[in-house]
Amino acid sequence: LGREILYYNEVESTNSIAKELAAKCPEGTVVIAETQKKGRGRMGSEWQSLPGGIWFSVILKPSVPLEYTAKITLVAGLAVSKAMRELGVDARIKWPNDVLIHGKKVCGILTEVDAEVEKIDHVILGIGINANVRQSEFREEIREDSTSLEEEVGKPIDRIAFMKQLLFELEQQYIKFTTQKFSDIVSEWISLSDTIGKEVTVTTPVKIIEGKAVGVTDKGALLVKTKNNVREEIIAGRCRYSK
Ligand code: BTN
Repeated sequence: LGREILYYNEVESTNSIAKELAAKCPEGTVVIAETQKKGRGRMGSEWQSLPGGIWFSVILKPSVPLEYTAKITLVAGLAVSKAMRELGVDARIKWPNDVLIHGKKVCGILTEVDAEVEKIDHVILGIGINANVRQSEFREEIREDSTSLEEEVGKPIDRIAFMKQLLFELEQQYIKFTTQKFSDIVSEWISLSDTIGKEVTVTTPVKIIEGKAVGVTDKGALLVKTKNNVREEIIAGRCRYSK
């Protein structure tokens, strides 16, 4: 991954550019920008993309059938956490798509496929990392719950060196994903998870589930044990910690 890198100063969204170019570009092409004017977050939210951050998308063309994009999101979360841990911070993954340090969000992941395409040909993996940005610069609604690598490490990080490490980790995990059992990725994911063992409230388009997060399935779904001892499998949703 990252043998081809398309670098921009300012774009609307690297995910949009990657989507437009996907058919023409080789697998692993990276689209990266210094800032995004219309960075997209999950569920239609806006993603603040200030200068100093790392905003990029990877064009993937998985050779294995991809039933659930959630799987790619988990693969990416694992790679991001591992790369961050090399900087000496305790990065942990919050299901499904966040990476946290000391309980605060430092990275968000947005995996997208073209909805109209029946057979999925390519997947756009969008990763946003608050690298060298200050907490005080975040917009108010997210300020309390966000952090950056600069804040956590105590000085600005070398973004290029970090990006090299991250692309290496992403490639390692992606190779594992295409060649090994998904459960191997799940067990490593669980070892770096911030979510497993916590009381959670998960909101899906159809229901709200409250209970204890007890595991992740081979589909990438979160397993929640409710008060009535029912095990619910949630493939997509917004997860909040109850306490
Ligand atoms: C989230 O946590 O809501 C996901 C945020 C994903 C942000 C990244 S930044 C690079 C890529 N381009 C986008 O427009 N979004 C993703």
